[in-house]
Amino acid sequence: MSAHAIKARFIAFEGGEGVGKSTQAKRLVAALAERGVDAILTREPGGTTGAEMIRKLLLDPPGSGWRVQAEALLFAAARSDHVAKAIKPALLAGKWVVCDRFVLSSRAYQGLAGGLGDEEVRVLHQIGSDGLLPCRTFLLEAPGEDVAERLRMRDGDEADAIGGRNARYHADVGRGFAGLAQGDDTVVQVDASGSADEVHAAVMEEVEPLLAPTS
Ligand code: TYD
Repeated sequence: MSAHAIKARFIAFEGGEGVGKSTQAKRLVAALAERGVDAILTREPGGTTGAEMIRKLLLDPPGSGWRVQAEALLFAAARSDHVAKAIKPALLAGKWVVCDRFVLSSRAYQGLAGGLGDEEVRVLHQIGSDGLLPCRTFLLEAPGEDVAERLRMRDGDEADAIGGRNARYHADVGRGFAGLAQGDDTVVQVDASGSADEVHAAVMEEVEPLLAPTS
């Protein structure tokens, strides 16, 4: 690494359905490119050929769907492939990684809303991905009604197997995320009810200090 290199960083966007994570992840990668920082944009579940195949199994499951245990194992398996074949190699090559969802989603959806337990999800992550964690996670939070409206516009009747779960499940996910953010100073809660520009500005305020060259 050169004397003035900017350290490669792993950043995740998290939150419930329809809060604008994908838009913000893309905008961050574009802002990094403008500053000459090489960053890859990736997503979960997915990001490698194998993990994208597991994504299909999760979002459009066969038969009556998965038990929460199997669902958590499939997410962990997809993440294991993604971390080993895409995320770690990029970080080792000095690239930033911006990921649309990561393990906090498994903790909120399967661990808390799904009832599997937080510790169980963390153990699976340790086994699958050596417990790799982002250096910053932006948790985008918006009031329930806003999100329901955005989702209706985005998905219509086409919600996937997890997105289509009932309002109570999604409320548990939201509370789960908020609880996980407490006491974890790598997780930054961002009010996502503003415009995309406002949310992006809030994200950049946190990212700027990470752009300082290291010696
Ligand atoms: P996706 O369309 O990528 O998310 P979004 O609706 O936010 O655009 O779908 C991913 C779905 O998978 C979403 O409902 C959240 C869920 N999920 C989990 O339940 N656990 C996980 O670990 C991850 C990564 C996603």
